[in-house]
Amino acid sequence: MSRSRIDKDVSARIADGALRPLSRDELFGDRAKLKGRVVVITGGGSGLGRAFAVEAAKNGASVVIGDVNEQGLEETLRLIKAAKGTARGQRCDVTIWEDQVALFELAQSSFGRVDVAVANAGIGDTSQGQFLKEELEKPDITTLDVDVVGVVYTARLGLHYLRRNPAEDGKAIILIGSYASFYGSPVTMLYAPAKHAVLGFGRSLKFLCAHDGINCTVICPYFVDTPIMQAIKPALQGETLGTIDDVVGALTYASTAGIVKLSPGQAILVDPRGVLVTNGGKFSPMALPKL
Ligand SMILES: NC(=O)c1ccc[n+]([C@@H]2O[C@H](COP(=O)([O-])OP(=O)(O)OC[C@H]3O[C@@H](n4cnc5c(N)ncnc54)[C@H](O)[C@@H]3O)[C@@H](O)[C@H]2O)c1
Repeated sequence: MSRSRIDKDVSARIADGALRPLSRDELFGDRAKLKGRVVVITGGGSGLGRAFAVEAAKNGASVVIGDVNEQGLEETLRLIKAAKGTARGQRCDVTIWEDQVALFELAQSSFGRVDVAVANAGIGDTSQGQFLKEELEKPDITTLDVDVVGVVYTARLGLHYLRRNPAEDGKAIILIGSYASFYGSPVTMLYAPAKHAVLGFGRSLKFLCAHDGINCTVICPYFVDTPIMQAIKPALQGETLGTIDDVVGALTYASTAGIVKLSPGQAILVDPRGVLVTNGGKFSPMALPKL
């Protein structure tokens, strides 16, 4: 899609109040507030989780990351050290409750509290055409375990540790949804329902978070060039993608804006047009390319 088509598209939606773009200043303007905060990020060993971990640490946050990819984890810790930031990390499989408890305990014991919890770890679709096959096999539903169960565990622990934190502001739980939170397709038989679930879960979680003074945000990126999308990258040749920088901006905004008065239906989209706040059920996301 060309930039002018994108601009026309977004102006039309802004005109009917369906999407509100966030400026760069809104996204990053309060990043200094990350100083001294304790930020737990699952899936911090790669892609979006790594990018936000490094950004938060550069701005003075103490970062705690977990991942099943221990090499990736080490690399993120190295990048943070090179930027003179503070971080801890350990192997954590988000589908294992005890692993996530240990990750939050690492944050609590190392830095005394948790301010921001980011449920970021995720995998692509493990159904691999199983639903199309003539012969019957038990489907591999690992996508649901990682992308739904893992997120629910992170949020449950986030609520627990943030409630123990006496700070009056700056507390946030952030869930990473996707454009797949709004779309289904035959190649996302498990990823689409998983990401719909993340959005639905976030819409419910928001009520509890508001009660506890916690900002709760679901961020829904369009395609962004990270390892998770390498398998479908060839099909996206010539498409304008979302950027890692915009996702980091959305994460920074959600971590630092205090309680943002978004209704439970609202989410933050990150797509080639930038970072956009949705207006309940009224908006429509961009059309997807044919995959
Ligand atoms: N990149 C995109 O196009 C895109 C678009 C929409 C949403 N997302 C979402 O963004 C999040 C981050 O993805 P990314 O783009 O950075 O991809 P990525 O593959 O670079 O990072 C995902 C990380 O999650 C980790 N992970 C996987 N399974 C895990 C488990 N069981 N326990 C702990 N960690 C685990 C991986 O090892 C990896 O480090 C995911 O939730 C993904 O679904 C990505």
